[in-house]
Amino acid sequence: MSIILRTRQLTKRYGAKTVVHDVNMTIGTGDIYGFLGQNGAGKTTTLRMIMGLIRPSAGEIELFGHARHGDKRKTMERIGAIIEYPGFYLNLNAADNLEIHRRLMGMGNKESIDDALATVGLLDAKNQAVKNYSLGMKQRLGIARALLHHPELLLLDEPTNGLDPGGIKEMRQLFLKLARKRGITVLISSHLLSEVEQLANKIGIIHKGQLLEEIDCETLQKKTRHYLNLKVTDEKKAAYILEHMLGTTDYVAAGPGVLRLYEHLEQPDQVSSLLASNGVGVKEMALSGDSLEDYFLKLTGGEGFG
Ligand SMILES: Nc1ncnc2c1ncn2[C@@H]1O[C@H](COP(=O)(O)OP(=O)(O)OP(=O)(O)O)[C@@H](O)[C@H]1O
Ligand SMILES: [Mg+2]
Repeated sequence: MSIILRTRQLTKRYGAKTVVHDVNMTIGTGDIYGFLGQNGAGKTTTLRMIMGLIRPSAGEIELFGHARHGDKRKTMERIGAIIEYPGFYLNLNAADNLEIHRRLMGMGNKESIDDALATVGLLDAKNQAVKNYSLGMKQRLGIARALLHHPELLLLDEPTNGLDPGGIKEMRQLFLKLARKRGITVLISSHLLSEVEQLANKIGIIHKGQLLEEIDCETLQKKTRHYLNLKVTDEKKAAYILEHMLGTTDYVAAGPGVLRLYEHLEQPDQVSSLLASNGVGVKEMALSGDSLEDYFLKLTGGEGFG
């Protein structure tokens, strides 16, 4: 998989305050990247730098394999973005709003407007004045605008802010469609874990300007898997019993005398009596493992998301 966006030591300072601090983020082609951070963490500032709307104080941004300076226009043609709230001419309808944008940016053609509106499910509402749009419709119109020129990378800054659960679900389906059917790489910032965990395949956690962790969701799931923590008198023998008598290989040795068993979590008594009756003493047994929420709480030193 190729890298579509990479930052190196990306930093933004305002006066004496460093609001984005040495951020190294990597997004691969086809990723749905959840950029998770609390209010004020530095999400919007990072996205603004990537978009070239503000200048980094230090560090580098690489897009599509090239450093971000140079031919800006060409790079921008490959990106679609909504940063904070998309503004529209409220008295005009959706189609006219997009046409103004299209001409202003010199991008796409007229057909691309209907295409974009259809993609976000607004084709039937295209002649309606935007002032009569619901918040969810406006958000979708913002996405349609970002899609007009067929970008390869979409940067969406808290696109579901203010939406109800139904609206959030609709958006999630739209993002999945864009990523899977159109092959668009999507970065979504959010302050809600619940929002990105069901969507992203990779999550970057920004906290007080620093990218604390960047992790693919498979690894994250492994890290947050629950298990029975078994302290036993003989871990080799215990392992043998687990494999040959309980029929599971889903365990790991976690230090001398300690095994983590990822199966049979519902039957701890059976596990311990099986071990005991085969001559392995169980000194301690506890259900352990972080929930995703706990995991992030630990990372951020107790301040969670959403
Ligand atoms: N132009 C500016 N001048 C000074 N400080 C700024 C400026 N822009 C942003 N900041 C500060 O930078 C920090 C990060 O802000 P940013 O908007 O990037 O956070 P965010 O993660 O997008 O938060 P939110 O979830 O509230 O949108 C905040 O403390 C903010 O006050
Ligand atoms: Mg923001």
